[in-house]
Amino acid sequence: MKFFVDTADIDAIRELNELGMVDGVTTNPSLILKSGRDILEVTKEICDIVTGPVSAEVIALEAEDMISEGRRLAEIADNIVVKVPLTWDGLKACKTLTDEGRMVNVTLCFSANQALLAAKAGATFISPFIGRLDDLNLDGLQLISDIREIYDNYGYETQVLAASIRTANHMSDCAKLGADVATAPPGVIKAMVNHVLTDKGLDAFVADAKKAGIKIV
Ligand code: E4P
Repeated sequence: MKFFVDTADIDAIRELNELGMVDGVTTNPSLILKSGRDILEVTKEICDIVTGPVSAEVIALEAEDMISEGRRLAEIADNIVVKVPLTWDGLKACKTLTDEGRMVNVTLCFSANQALLAAKAGATFISPFIGRLDDLNLDGLQLISDIREIYDNYGYETQVLAASIRTANHMSDCAKLGADVATAPPGVIKAMVNHVLTDKGLDAFVADAKKAGIKIV
């Protein structure tokens, strides 16, 4: 499973990228707002750091305007993925932009039917939002499983990009379900390393190394 980092925080992207943890980046208007930066400027900086796909989201609501914005965003770098919402206009924009050879991420997906439409419109990525479904006592992971099954039934090449990831467990659950990509905030990716038995075991090894007077270099 590929890891995308869901942020516009340059320092966090750089840190995880140096560890080989960043296969791509996703942003959205809320993350751009949080960064306090201009969208074109911060997106360009991200594309200079990361070689994988970098999603940048349109803000228009009508297809023609989304297409114009998508073309402008795609001028930033070759690895730009134009992110469009899962509306009828978004699907129209997806079809036009993918026909032009651009990568498109269809976002705000909350149902298997929506994911089916995005695949038919030629989406490069579909972004089902797990956390926002879980927030409503619905089953975000079940949606990942349903989309995987449907895409596999018909050989759709649209990649399942699990989004709205809130916990480290979401990452392993998505991997088990066969998501192609999971995009998570830097804090969630970092939390994946944590295990209480690792900490406990390390404390014991450190104490014993001290008692034994072990010195390696
Ligand atoms: C990804 O593309 C989305 O922008 C993101 O995962 C949304 O996450 P949230 O529901 O935590 O805002």
